[in-house]
Amino acid sequence: MQTANNTPATISTPGVAPASDETTSEEPRGTSNRSTTPASSQFQDFIGSNWADRVDELPAPREQAAFAAGRRARLSAAFAGSRLVIPAGALKQRSNDTDYPYRAHSAFAHLTGWGADAEPDSILVLEPNNDGHDATLYFRERADRTSNEFYANPAIGEFWIGARPSLAQVAADLGLATAHIDAFETTDADRTVEKDAELTTFLSELRLVKDEYEIAQMRLAVDATARGFDDVIADFPRITTHTRGERAVEGVFYTRARLDGNAVGYDTIAASGPHACILHWTRNDGPVSPGDLMLLDAGVEVDSLYTADITRTLPANGRFTDVQRAVYEAVREAADAAFAIVRPGIIFRDVHAEAMKVIAKHTAAWGMLPVTAEKSLEPENQFHRRYMVHGTSHHLGIDVHDCAAARREMYHDGEVREGMVFTIEPGLYFQPDDLSVPAEFRGIGVRIEDDILVTATGAEDLSAGIPRTADEVEAWIRRLSPSTDG
Ligand code: GLY
Ligand code: MN
Ligand code: MN
Repeated sequence: MQTANNTPATISTPGVAPASDETTSEEPRGTSNRSTTPASSQFQDFIGSNWADRVDELPAPREQAAFAAGRRARLSAAFAGSRLVIPAGALKQRSNDTDYPYRAHSAFAHLTGWGADAEPDSILVLEPNNDGHDATLYFRERADRTSNEFYANPAIGEFWIGARPSLAQVAADLGLATAHIDAFETTDADRTVEKDAELTTFLSELRLVKDEYEIAQMRLAVDATARGFDDVIADFPRITTHTRGERAVEGVFYTRARLDGNAVGYDTIAASGPHACILHWTRNDGPVSPGDLMLLDAGVEVDSLYTADITRTLPANGRFTDVQRAVYEAVREAADAAFAIVRPGIIFRDVHAEAMKVIAKHTAAWGMLPVTAEKSLEPENQFHRRYMVHGTSHHLGIDVHDCAAARREMYHDGEVREGMVFTIEPGLYFQPDDLSVPAEFRGIGVRIEDDILVTATGAEDLSAGIPRTADEVEAWIRRLSPSTDG
């Protein structure tokens, strides 16, 4: 686009940064060229009056309140004398006056117990006192009906997005002192906060070992994810005849999540045929064709924000070919070998090393490596990693890639401890144009991903109930989708 004087014209792109200002101001985002709510004082008087009193039932503290208090106590002990500010974060603008679905910062959710129902722009403050900290949760309490916000502000008004809770309700619900966000903004916003990086690291490491509440939530998320996988398989006849079968897979999984009242913890990867070789394929616009493998990597997120992260690779017509089966079972052998060593006291990276021994063994046997498996496993070689460039495990919890700011010595090089939850997810991906592999392997991608809880003496595969072996997978498809048969 050019203007008359020949200077290039640009469009104003508000981007995402100002979204918080826009969404928290009393002024709605510009829609002045559309119909607006009347603004006369007569109208304001009329709409602001004749409302029944609000009757606020104070809830009993939610189950996670006591756990969140325990986490705050550990934080307080680690940062004696420091003022700590943990923001929930703002809405993020998608386009114009639409935003992405809101999700509070994971550390904020962990320390408050406020999950899917957290209010945007809330802030948790730990103010040092003589023997620890006073915790206060600042948030935008619902507006009074005499303000015009509640009926005229599409971004935050009660008529538009629903009523926000009162300070008293949230205080009772979360077992936390609450105050209006304006009190933070006028008295606290400019005060310096120290130890930002150190705080971020601490809050990530605080989540490395899950408590009993978190483990129970992870079990719920895994069970809900299993139902989504079942629904996808039951819908195979429709999925495999749909021009965008991958999207149908994503939709069916999401539908189950929503029907159960849940969300998803990350964008579903529904990758069929050669798309399965693309690790984070989320475009999901291809078909699911008979003869292909469909890799489904999906996880339900429950209200507390804990998510599962599970992958199964399924033959679209219900039967693995010989080559597909060989690749699948090699990956399963790698997953089982990794799982077998998990117990408190091992080093996290040893889980990956164990899986790699199996991956190197099979890729060498298939003639894909320029050296033996043993040579390939030497640190300077690693040729087998051409077919699995990702790691085998990551921590899992409120974030799908949980504890991401933990120090390397606490994570990759850290000791595995009881109560940790992480994935085991080896894979083999033979790109369709990879001339280093025999032709019959090209275009096959397999990943098997399970969610593992470390117990006192070993490990529990939380997702073991979802069929895993090639035989189990075929039987699963036969059972739920009997008309799908090779
Ligand atoms: N779903 C992403 C991953 O498996 O890490
Ligand atoms: Mn994963
Ligand atoms: Mn995954």
